[in-house]
Amino acid sequence: MLKFAIVGLGGLGKSHLTFYFNVKKHKDVELVALCDIDPEQLQKKVELNIGTATVPVDLSQYHLYTDMDEMLEKESLDFIITAVPTYLHAELAVKAMDKGIHVFSEKPMALNLEQCQSMVDAAKRNNVKLQIGQCIRFSPQYQCLRDLVRSGKYGKVIRAEFTRISAAPLWSWNNWFMNFDMSGGAVLDLHVHDVDFVQWTFGMPKSVMSMASHYESGFDAITSNYGYDGFYVTTMTDWSLAPGYPFTTSGIVSCEGATIVLSQDEHACVSVFERGVNDGKSNIHHIPTYNEGDLNYYELEMIEFIDCIEKKRDSDIISAESTMDSIRLALIEQESANKGEKVYV
Ligand SMILES: NC(=O)c1ccc[n+]([C@@H]2O[C@H](COP(=O)([O-])OP(=O)(O)OC[C@H]3O[C@@H](n4cnc5c(N)ncnc54)[C@H](O)[C@@H]3O)[C@@H](O)[C@H]2O)c1
Repeated sequence: MLKFAIVGLGGLGKSHLTFYFNVKKHKDVELVALCDIDPEQLQKKVELNIGTATVPVDLSQYHLYTDMDEMLEKESLDFIITAVPTYLHAELAVKAMDKGIHVFSEKPMALNLEQCQSMVDAAKRNNVKLQIGQCIRFSPQYQCLRDLVRSGKYGKVIRAEFTRISAAPLWSWNNWFMNFDMSGGAVLDLHVHDVDFVQWTFGMPKSVMSMASHYESGFDAITSNYGYDGFYVTTMTDWSLAPGYPFTTSGIVSCEGATIVLSQDEHACVSVFERGVNDGKSNIHHIPTYNEGDLNYYELEMIEFIDCIEKKRDSDIISAESTMDSIRLALIEQESANKGEKVYV
């Protein structure tokens, strides 16, 4: 039985609490403590959407703390999940790892490469697991698209494009998302999902050319072209949209033999428009991407993290070093946008 705590009980911390009820059906884990600097977050009875029902959960069944240091002193924990503002990711993760505790730290890994390196070093120094919440790597839909592209089944890549747009996240603690020094703006926050997926799928590009818009958070919208040998990939993120605009993502890869698309509807699938031979038509097929237990990608990434701790193994889906590369790439995009010129990687 592995004992753990959640640190940061805002939007995503509460989601992790929800996911716990599904994760524990698959893994021998027990949530023992919750920590949030804001006591309000710990006093509320929370309503969680578990399965198909809204369930009231009484937080007093867990040990409650407003200070992580105190919690680490008093509790005997195997791992923590941290879902705190980004500028705190490295500091809290390193503190916990230096106490021999495995850490699942939400994305983005950190605000800069020095902070990322301190996390990687702490994991090595203490021989503990560090996994970053780049949850898209665990999306069966994105995994299916990646596998098809990398298999070479449809020939060489011609071009690809990934987008992610939403209304501005204005609900956060002290409005930290809109503070560039705390969040890194949309480029490090929302955009990092696509940055991570692109570099995981296609590798690091040879060059980057970006343009950005600066509105409320410093970097609110960014469009980047990544240059590879023989093709390019475009990413676009925008969180400057008016309240109520729905969170929307897309992904499309044009290959010699087919166009591969992430479906937009509620039935998560990958659609393949396979070019016919000399008939000017496509053979269209849809590959369902449900997973067996109908677990979401947050639950799947947690199960992988716990499994790696249990079996003392490294994940072949995600490593701290590879998520650090995503921060490296996002920072290069910032540099390109700031200079108004192409940057060679
Ligand atoms: N993987 C995803 O898809 C995804 C989605 C949303 C957010 N996130 C990430 O999760 C993290 C949290 O985002 P959020 O939306 O939950 O933000 P939030 O503002 O809703 O919650 C942050 C919480 O952290 C608490 N906190 C602040 N300082 C603390 C400290 N020193 N110790 C303990 N608690 C502290 C705040 O009181 C607040 O409750 C961010 O890094 C964000 O990028 C990831």
